[in-house]
Amino acid sequence: TIVRYRLSSGSVHEVDVSDGQSVMEGSVQSNLPGIVADCGGSCSCATCHVYLDPECAAAFDPPSDEERELLEFTEGTRTTSRLACQLILRGECPEIGVMVPDSNN
Ligand code: FES
Repeated sequence: TIVRYRLSSGSVHEVDVSDGQSVMEGSVQSNLPGIVADCGGSCSCATCHVYLDPECAAAFDPPSDEERELLEFTEGTRTTSRLACQLILRGECPEIGVMVPDSNN
């Protein structure tokens, strides 16, 4: 799956991320800035906050209670906010787009 990361600087990066990997892992493995992932993907730090393009939202499981609670305490959230470590690719959407807020840093 091609994941398109739009950074707050305006740059756009496309990464081919394998099924079973998360949107967070795709970013970290490509050394992209903006997704810090302090907790390593265990849904406890919220430094992987992204805005998920709505047309791709159905390709992922809905947020768990844990994820929703963490997002409640995260700065700058919108209705499209997700934690990228919880967005596991399943090949259901050929392209995924996320916007990476700069408040993660
Ligand atoms: Fe920490 Fe996603 S990496 S919550």
